[in-house]
Amino acid sequence: MNLLIVGASGFIGSHIFRHAQDGGINVTGTRFSASKQDLITFDLSKDSIGTVLPGGFFSAGTPACAVICSAITKIDLCAKDKEHSYNFNVRHTIRLINELVKKGVKIIFLSSEAVYEGDIGYYSENDPPTPVNEYGRQKLEVEKYLLLHHPDSLIFRLSVIVGDSPGEPHLFTDWAKLIQRRKPIACIKGQIFSPTFVDDVACGILLGLKNNLSGLYHLSNKEFFAREELARQFVYLFDRRIEKTGTEVVSIAESEFGFLDRRQLKTYLDNTLFEKATKMRFTSMKEVMVSFLGNLIKGI
Ligand SMILES: NC(=O)c1ccc[n+]([C@@H]2O[C@H](COP(=O)([O-])OP(=O)(O)OC[C@H]3O[C@@H](n4cnc5c(N)ncnc54)[C@H](OP(=O)(O)O)[C@@H]3O)[C@@H](O)[C@H]2O)c1
Repeated sequence: MNLLIVGASGFIGSHIFRHAQDGGINVTGTRFSASKQDLITFDLSKDSIGTVLPGGFFSAGTPACAVICSAITKIDLCAKDKEHSYNFNVRHTIRLINELVKKGVKIIFLSSEAVYEGDIGYYSENDPPTPVNEYGRQKLEVEKYLLLHHPDSLIFRLSVIVGDSPGEPHLFTDWAKLIQRRKPIACIKGQIFSPTFVDDVACGILLGLKNNLSGLYHLSNKEFFAREELARQFVYLFDRRIEKTGTEVVSIAESEFGFLDRRQLKTYLDNTLFEKATKMRFTSMKEVMVSFLGNLIKGI
């Protein structure tokens, strides 16, 4: 199989790229602004993917798949410039999808828990999506397009993704920086979520391809936490393993954060469909936090 990862320089894309390489898959990745020599430069907002990829990628007889990781992912950024984010996350993404499908490529689209309203939580794939912010609406529009026009595609709704490397951009890195600067960790009061390990996401995507899945799946950890409780666990482990800081965790109402767009409160996902289809075991947040702090100590 030939695998293309659009946005292989990003947080999730780089893990999928590495896992695919380790698994012996013939993988090609794109980057936009990152300086990564092994990736092909591609600008979603103006390039045609066919013109930047090596000719052999679409060779007849070899099945090809593409994971689309490129997106404007910041909720407030999507709201701040709706037209720009809509053009990128919806129009240009659909243009890329259509170009790839025309060449016989199966699409794997990374969507988000942001498609749900967040009032009830523990959502299953058949619960009605009613996004409360622009980012969620844009993700949902691409999902709907794929389900209608290219039903063979595979759509993964992800929750908040975390890693065990302090050098990467995710929640645990943010928390560790606050602790090291002796600043309190502020959490949205009442928020419940199911953070998921980035390497599980990478493995899950490749397992989905191996099992020839199509349609919509929650690729998410089964554990779920009140955000402030997970932050307290993180501080507790940091204080035990690195140094005693006694960092305060404070809960603040969503309305007091000054966000430009709404945040959901209960975003945890039911992953039964995906677990049954793949038998995948997800890494616990305790394992990820302990590994993260170990890497912080080692300076990795
Ligand atoms: N991270 C999460 O917690 C999370 C949760 C739910 C869903 N998701 C979804 O998962 C996907 C990947 O997220 P991520 O966190 O890995 O995002 P990310 O780290 O921000 O990566 C974004 C990727 O898009 C590329 N890119 C930026 N501008 C581009 C352009 N003009 N043309 C082509 N590519 C461009 C970036 O390339 P350069 O770095 O080279 O500029 C990078 O490779 C997104 O669809 C996101 O919505 C993520």
